[in-house]
Order: sequence, then C-alpha cells, then structure tokens
Amino acid sequence: MIEEKIKDVIRDVIDFPKEGIVFKDITPIMLDPALSKEIVAYLASIYKDQKLDKIAGIESRGFLFGYPLAMELGLPFVLIRKTGKLPYHKISHSYDLEYGSATIEMHVDAVQKGERVLIHDDLLATGGSASAAAELIQKCGGEVAGFNFLVGLNFLNGIEKLKNYSNNITNLVAY
Ligand code: PRP
Ligand code: MG
Repeated sequence: MIEEKIKDVIRDVIDFPKEGIVFKDITPIMLDPALSKEIVAYLASIYKDQKLDKIAGIESRGFLFGYPLAMELGLPFVLIRKTGKLPYHKISHSYDLEYGSATIEMHVDAVQKGERVLIHDDLLATGGSASAAAELIQKCGGEVAGFNFLVGLNFLNGIEKLKNYSNNITNLVAY
C-alpha cells in the first residue's frame, strides 16, 4: 500500500520549528525516486477523470508533487507564491497565522473564469494556506474542484475550513 510506504519514510522531527511541535519531514520521499514516481502515478489515477482544467500548487513544498502531477495529467500548473516573488500583475490574499499574518499571490492571468482548479500542497495543518489559495482561485472566477495533500494532520481540523470551497478533499496519509 502506498500509504504505508509513505508513512515508512516520513520522519518525525521533535521540537521543530519550536518546542512541542512534531514536524512531519517529507524530504526522504524526494530521496526515493521510485516512491516519488509511484506517488505521482497514484495521484494521477485519482484525478484523471475529474475534468480538471488546472492544478495549482502552494509554494514551496506544494510545487514538489503539484507540477509533476500536472505534467502527468497533461494539465497547466499554476504557481501560488509567497508575497513579493511573482514578477507579473497579480492578485493577493492575506490570512491570519498563530502570530501575525501571511500573504500569498497568483498571477492575474493564471486562472480564467469557469476553470476547474485542483489545489495541491504537501501538508494540511490548520487549512490557512489552502483556504487562502482557494480565495485566489475564486477571485479570478475559477472553481475550486478539490484539494489534495500528501499528508493531513487531522487533529488540527483544517478540513473544516476547506469545506467552504469544496468537499472533494483527499490526502494520502493522515495523522
Ligand atoms: C507548510 C506546509 C503547508 C502549510 C500547512 O508550509 O508546506 O504549505 O504550512 O499549514 P496550514 O494548513 O496551517 O496553512 P510553510 O508555510 O512552512 O512553507 P514551505 O512549504 O515553503 O516550507
Ligand atoms: Mg508549504
């Protein structure tokens, strides 16, 4: 099972980035090309018949599998980036963090009205990043076709925030 293979390689890092947090380190996946290819193929099998127009990945770890998945499906890939990184005309959305706030951006012409966009990221925690990404898609007139994550931290209930945009929410492994 792919779920077991992913769980076997994800590494728990205690007290990162601060005391009391157990960080789920996905970098061992990228050290395993066979597993990486298997993940992309598995994701493609889930989404191939969902009539998607585009995949949007959230910087930075959402780029790791988002872009390969888009290529596997033959779909365009949209970069959702942290503020100040994108060069062209863009739209922004700010959201609250535990301390302070964050802003993400997307090029104005990345998503067209009516397009069905799957939002991908490596990990769902509070859902702040993914729901901000959904706001950007909707601001352009796009439709959030679903959310996909490699890892879901279910105890943080991020999924509840995402249901406002789509009920099509998938993760490969959950904790
Ligand atoms: C992490 C992770 C997700 C997000 C999840 O990214 O990769 O993008 O946080 O948290 P949330 O559900 O509470 O929003 P991070 O901001 O650490 O940046 P990175 O991907 O560039 O490492
Ligand atoms: Mg991230």
